[in-house]
Parts: sequence; C-alpha cells; structure tokens
Amino acid sequence: MTDNVKNGFPFFKSNPDVVWLDNAAATQKPECMAEALNKFYNECNSNVYRGEYPFADVATRLYEDARGVVARWFGTSPERIAFTYNATDSLNISADIIGKTVKNGDNVIISALEHNSALLPWMRIREENRAEIRYIPVLPNGTIDIDAIPKLIDSRTRAAIITAGSNVNGYMPPHDKIREIFDGKNIPLIIDAAQSSAHVMHDASEMKFEYMCASAHKLYGPTGLGILIAGSEKAADALGRLGGGTVNYVTKDGFEKKPGVSGLEAGTPNAAGAYAFATVLDYLSKLDVVSLWQKEARLAETLKEELSSIGMKLVPCGGTALPVAAFDPTFMHPSDLARLLGSMGVCVRSGRHCAHIAHDELGFGATVRVSLGIYNSEDDIEKLTDAIKYLKGRFGNV
Ligand code: ALA
Repeated sequence: MTDNVKNGFPFFKSNPDVVWLDNAAATQKPECMAEALNKFYNECNSNVYRGEYPFADVATRLYEDARGVVARWFGTSPERIAFTYNATDSLNISADIIGKTVKNGDNVIISALEHNSALLPWMRIREENRAEIRYIPVLPNGTIDIDAIPKLIDSRTRAAIITAGSNVNGYMPPHDKIREIFDGKNIPLIIDAAQSSAHVMHDASEMKFEYMCASAHKLYGPTGLGILIAGSEKAADALGRLGGGTVNYVTKDGFEKKPGVSGLEAGTPNAAGAYAFATVLDYLSKLDVVSLWQKEARLAETLKEELSSIGMKLVPCGGTALPVAAFDPTFMHPSDLARLLGSMGVCVRSGRHCAHIAHDELGFGATVRVSLGIYNSEDDIEKLTDAIKYLKGRFGNV
C-alpha cells in the first residue's frame, strides 16, 4: 500500500533513493498539489474579492470553496476558518487578540512542552505588561502534568496555551480532560495543532477552544498557508489584523470592520495555496488517510523499538503519541549524526526543534528527530537503523 502512496509523490521519483524522515518539518507533496497551483496561476489568476471580471469570480469561488473543504476536514463551518501565513502566524494572531485583555497582575498558563511559536508571543506580552506565565510542568515520562493545571488557575488567569501534539516526543495531551478542567471558567484556550493535524483527524465540533492553529505544509499542502480555526462566532469576528479586505469603509475618523474572519486574514490572501491545499485534502480523503495514519502509528512503535535496540536514548513519551521519535545518539553530537545521515540519503532533523524549554524540562541538550509520514515504510526504518549502526561502528569509540 505504501509504495502506491509513494508513487503519488513526485519528490520520490526525482529522488528514488532518499529516505525522508523529516515529516514534522516538511512533508513531501502529492502531484495534485503543484497541478492545482499551476491551474490557479495559469488559468484564472486574479486577486480574490476585488475584481469585477469573470476570472476574479472564479478565483474567489475557488478560494471560498477551499475554505469549505478545510472547514469540513476540521469539523467546523467555513465561517470559523481563516487562512493565515503559517501556524506561527495563527499562534501570533491568537496571542495578539487574547493578549489585548491581559493586564499587569494577570497570568496565562502554558505547557512547558510547547513549540517556541506558541510560547514566544506570550513572552512578549509578559514583557509588555508584566503578565505572569505559569508553566504546566513536564513529567519525567514526557507527558504534561494535567493534575497541576487546576492549581495554576486563579481569577486572574486570562488564557491557556496547550499543544495537541508535541513536535519533540509526539505527546498528545488529553484535550477531553483538559476541556473539563477549563469548563465554565471563561479562560480562552489556544490549541496548537500544527503537528497533530497531520496525523489525527481533529473534530472541532467536539472540542472547546478559542483558537486552534494548524499548518497546510505539514499536512502535505503548500508552504505559506496557515489555518486559524475560531472556536466561536466572537473569536471568528475578532480583529487580529488590519488592512485590505478587513473593513466596510474608512473615513478620516475611523473605520467599520467587516463582519467575520476577514479581520484574521488582512490583505491579499494565498488563494492559490488555499486551492492547492483543498485539492490535497480531497486527495488524502480518497486515499483513506485515516487507515494510513493507523499504519504510521504502528510503524512508529517499530521505529522506537529499533532505535532503543541500537542504543539510542529516546526522549520519553508515556502517553498517546504522534509518530515521532527524538533521541540522543550518545555516541556523537546530534547535528553531526544528522549531517552524516543526510549525506547517506537519510533525512532527519537535529537540534532543539524550536522547543527549547521542552528539551530543558526533559533533560536533553539537543536531539535527532525522526518523524514519519504516510509514505514511510519498514524499509525506511531499516535503512535508518542500518545507517546509524554503521556510523556507530565507525565513530562510536573514537
Ligand atoms: N516546527 C517544525 C518542526 O518541528 C518546523 O520541525
């Protein structure tokens, strides 16, 4: 089955010997992605919402249809979907909007497992108005301490930011339980689903959040396109960005905001990217991506067992996890190992993966990270572990 899937991804035709295991940073693209971009730019390229000619009508319809496809994918309505620049942009917009309500003496709760993009906008808010950041601790098994959350909440808590899946150890916090903790407390929750949405189907209608942030390029779509899902009509109608397309009119004295998500996606949007992303989502649905994700999860278990068996020190994850394994090679610096693997055609990521606090909490300096996608196979795991074994044999005792 995986070979058939792989055949739909031209990168592997151009690079047949490459073992691609850096999917948390960049997924390869199905053929239909570039075809859709070409179709948009070559056949109907126009600015959306702004032209009175038929091409603009077509482009606008494709953009709006794409919003509908993405909304269905995430279990919400098109009125709750905004297209942004990337997941980082979505996280910044969410923080800007909610951060306006934060004052000196307030606090926000953030898991210490977060990606820097979820954390840094709040560090800036802390610097600006001295709001406190209260961290949900990471436990030694790599999960976050859900029981600590009620003790962190008080009457001055203004927001909570919790990932749906770590980009380091893949841990997926139990958002059903987290939802119960925050129920009735009027504390807006931001969920960073940048990594998780490429491996599980999130049903926004079953979740409670102010904003959920995701990324097209991790879900086999184009770069330069983020998703911002509003959890309520009010969240969708917020003013996160100003510019073209966000207002009904402007006078010297002020402006009237257009209702809806236009205030989250000011200026000319990435309409071609949105159309290409929707095309990819349709393609994934036809491939039965949920079955492929189940296969990916089984492969992740094999991956972790194999890495442990050859002496790699895995970042622990004592809960449900995305198909990611980060480890300290112990015989060589992670960046050196990643560079050598790369030279052998095995692509992985090394460093702290923009999750510095998570690495500190887990007691790891830097790690090598292997992250799976729907086209990976046991053969890829074997090539990775053979390459590590070879390098360990060659350099391990130097
Ligand atoms: N945030 C992406 C990663 O984890 C880029 O690699």
